[in-house]
Amino acid sequence: MPETKLLLEKDGAIATITFNNPKALNALTVEIFEGLTRLLDDLERDEDVRVVILTGAGEKAFAAGGDINHLASLDPASAREFALLGQRVIDQVENFPKPVIAAINGYCLGGGNELAMGCDIRIAADSAKFGQPEVKLGIIPGFAGAPRLSRLVGKGKAKEMIFTGEAIDAGEALRIGLVNRVVAGEKLMEETRALALKICCNSSTAIRLAKEVIDNGLEMEFAHAARYEADLFALCFTTADCKEGISAFLEKRPTKF
Ligand code: CAA
Repeated sequence: MPETKLLLEKDGAIATITFNNPKALNALTVEIFEGLTRLLDDLERDEDVRVVILTGAGEKAFAAGGDINHLASLDPASAREFALLGQRVIDQVENFPKPVIAAINGYCLGGGNELAMGCDIRIAADSAKFGQPEVKLGIIPGFAGAPRLSRLVGKGKAKEMIFTGEAIDAGEALRIGLVNRVVAGEKLMEETRALALKICCNSSTAIRLAKEVIDNGLEMEFAHAARYEADLFALCFTTADCKEGISAFLEKRPTKF
């Protein structure tokens, strides 16, 4: 079953999906993408789940990229299909209505970095390494790595990473804004779960709307993004969470979202 290459663990409101092929440094296959899409569909419907964490099994890798054995079998048509499959699944992560956090242990390369960039927040172990090494294989990123990386870290740094194919360490990834935080390797999951728990305490409806306004707003002119934010701000006032959050503050009691 492809799902054995993907583990799902639920702990209260936090679901953790683990890429589980450490012998191949969790290289991303068609089966993994198809399994991930099914798991995300289930987790989207699961009302108990409020935050999803993506991570890699083993100490060595989050994911060392698309499966190069598979790349070796591709012709132009199937290469395009593989790129579009990866893009669809990473778009699903990016547009997922609940926050998705990447807990990055070890190598985060090529398609692995492209997938991590689709997540809302990236927490890196101090041993993590990030890169887009595709040009060393005579190819370019295919899972929308070039546009996502240049939006995240700027055109110059994205070009340096993609043109050299060299990996950068977690400290440099933090400095250029590719990751949110760097933590000691042995604390990676603990710190990631602590962050997820803080998010779980807040209104999931408000977080979903905030995610939409940030992601969609970035593609708009500022004035349109600001108007869009006002519209979603207004929408909050139709929700039970808004009534509860404001009442709880005024009544000086904890919220019950
Ligand atoms: N695909 C398939 N297998 C991979 C892989 C990948 N991306 N990365 C590593 N592996 C496999 C290795 O072939 C090796 O398998 P065997 O034990 O069967 O030989 C195993 O994982 C362990 O890897 P190494 O022995 O190479 O480990 P290392 O510590 O010496 O080196 C590494 C680690 C620097 C990450 C090296 O494995 C490496 O360079 N991997 C390839 C990284 C890469 O080029 N990624 C981009 C792929 S292309 C892409 O992502 C674009 C796309 O699909 C759209």
